[in-house]
Amino acid sequence: MRKPLIAGNWKMNMGGSDSKELSRSIRNALDDYTDIDILLCPPYTAITHVYEIIKNTSIILGAQNCFYESKGAFTGEISPLFLLDIGCKYVILGHSERRYYFGETADLIGKKMICSLDSGLNIILCVGEKLEERENGEAFEIVKSQLEGSFRNLPEDYLKKITVAYEPVWAIGTGKTCEPNMAEEMHHFIRSWFKVKFGDIISNNLRILYGGSIKPENISSLIVKEDIDGGLIGGASLNVDSFIQIIKNTIKAVH
Ligand code: 13P
Repeated sequence: MRKPLIAGNWKMNMGGSDSKELSRSIRNALDDYTDIDILLCPPYTAITHVYEIIKNTSIILGAQNCFYESKGAFTGEISPLFLLDIGCKYVILGHSERRYYFGETADLIGKKMICSLDSGLNIILCVGEKLEERENGEAFEIVKSQLEGSFRNLPEDYLKKITVAYEPVWAIGTGKTCEPNMAEEMHHFIRSWFKVKFGDIISNNLRILYGGSIKPENISSLIVKEDIDGGLIGGASLNVDSFIQIIKNTIKAVH
């Protein structure tokens, strides 16, 4: 059985003292949950604030992006090693906001994956189609090409450190959640791709998160699906009550 993972992607929010308040409230409410993994991904400038607050708890810390080299003359970039050094265990890579606002290609994301894994981080690799691609019947092809374009020859130990997040672009921040059966169909497709490429053990152990307008009201119907192992939450993770309720509803639904 795969342990559910609920991750908050704070995006470009909560950069300073807000991050302390939010993480403190989450810590106070959730410190003792062990049958679910909880991950917070603040913006870079808030990572150390959040680390100080959650360091003695089971809450995990992550970042939202990093560079594909571990050091050197790359002005403005952040090395995966730096993230590890300040307490991060995870990094989100390939988020659609990075693919489409910053032109990140599958190849570039693949390089970031290798460097992050070499550094010892776990990865959440985001994939997902745009609305017109879904409407044109291209969703599965797009997700397949995102997976194929980013996966190099990774050792098995590295594969264990990868989580995939299916985030249909049309559902992100729009209030339009992907209908649970539709999400499950894509999650099953992703797991089958892993099975063909890497075998039964890796694919059975792979956590696949859903992301896109998750709220306390819709998490239960998503998390009960066979291939949905958690959520990557944007807007609703910025509000302590809704984030905690999402976690509580997840625990209730999977037990
Ligand atoms: P929302 O939950 O705000 O739709 O964002 C989802 C997301 O992009 C998480 O990475």
